[in-house]
Amino acid sequence: MPDSPGDACPMTDSRTAGAILTIDLDSVVANWRQLRDRVGPAACAAVVKADAYGLGAGRVAPALAAAGCTRFFVALIDEGLALRSLLPEAEIHVLCGPLPGTEDVFAEHRLTPVLNSLEQMGSWARFLAARGAPLAAGLHVDTGMRRLGLPPDELAVVAADHGRLEAAGVAYVMSHLACADEPEHPLNEEQRLVFADARAALPPLPASFANSSGIFLGPAFHGDSVRPGVALYGGNPCPGHPNPMAQVVRLQGRIVQVRDVDSPQTVGYGATHQVAGTGRIATVAVGYADGYLRSLSNAGSGYIGDRRVPVVGRVSMDLITLDVSHLAEESSRPGTLVDLIGPHNPVDAVAEAAGTIGYEILTALGRRYHRVYTGDGTGGA
Ligand SMILES: Cc1ncc(COP(=O)(O)O)c(C=O)c1O
Repeated sequence: MPDSPGDACPMTDSRTAGAILTIDLDSVVANWRQLRDRVGPAACAAVVKADAYGLGAGRVAPALAAAGCTRFFVALIDEGLALRSLLPEAEIHVLCGPLPGTEDVFAEHRLTPVLNSLEQMGSWARFLAARGAPLAAGLHVDTGMRRLGLPPDELAVVAADHGRLEAAGVAYVMSHLACADEPEHPLNEEQRLVFADARAALPPLPASFANSSGIFLGPAFHGDSVRPGVALYGGNPCPGHPNPMAQVVRLQGRIVQVRDVDSPQTVGYGATHQVAGTGRIATVAVGYADGYLRSLSNAGSGYIGDRRVPVVGRVSMDLITLDVSHLAEESSRPGTLVDLIGPHNPVDAVAEAAGTIGYEILTALGRRYHRVYTGDGTGGA
């Protein structure tokens, strides 16, 4: 049965599941409102690609739309199609733009393509001319990421022939920061200047520039609209400083077995942890098949209440082992839930222990978890 007041994956039950993933929609909405208020009068969109960073676009996007978010970004056409069936009215922008021969899909489903090259601009313009009706597009200018977007030589062609913008229905221009999470990095200012020059070479068009961390670089990076992703989901947009965002995710793994161990015994595959003295090891039903990364072997930790319990030994496919020697037996029994992401070990702390970033921890969250969505999406308003 779903857990009130949210609901969950119908395949699992919070009583039988090996782990429970709780996603607080009120916190997502509160985070979006916080960013919106910070950037106003610029508009605040929401990046919900990769299934809203693993948290479930099907729940997150409607909650944000109900809170007043009207513009959503996804990476792929198929993500746009899935979102359109949930949000009939929203603006849905597809960052990869049209793949060759897919222009009609954009038109049919009112998806807004982000055009990343002269080639995409040309195909989209030809499609619009044949269709005989305009449709808006975004234009991505590469200012230093060198991944997507018009490189300088292609921008020069457009700058010399503004008719190309009109033919492709370009309604706004955007760019993406490479180092926004490092405020002191010189590339931030370089990209800002390159973007300003690019805009100056084009007719006046609304601009979209900042991601989550870019928002905290200040208004010079906001443009007319911002595109936060990870901060909506509780990731810290200001690494090294207190996280201004509300936590969204809690992951609780369940202890399935506890055993007494004695030196010189070892724990897990590869015998990578050597027990010192006597102790107790709790085995929890979460593993790398659930996105609990193998790099957390002998590095991650859980919390039972406010007591830290370190991961000892290797993360295996379905299981991890935690040292609970210092805990009373009654607080670490089979059935006990251990916070693997929670108030004491938020996403970014888990990421640091794993040697990665919060984005990867979130987008790897597994399909076997019993998912519970809490909050009504009003963000407590
Ligand atoms: C073009 C673009 N804009 C915005 C974002 C959102 O970035 P963040 O999650 O850092 O806020 C992304 C994410 O990768 C992106 O690719």
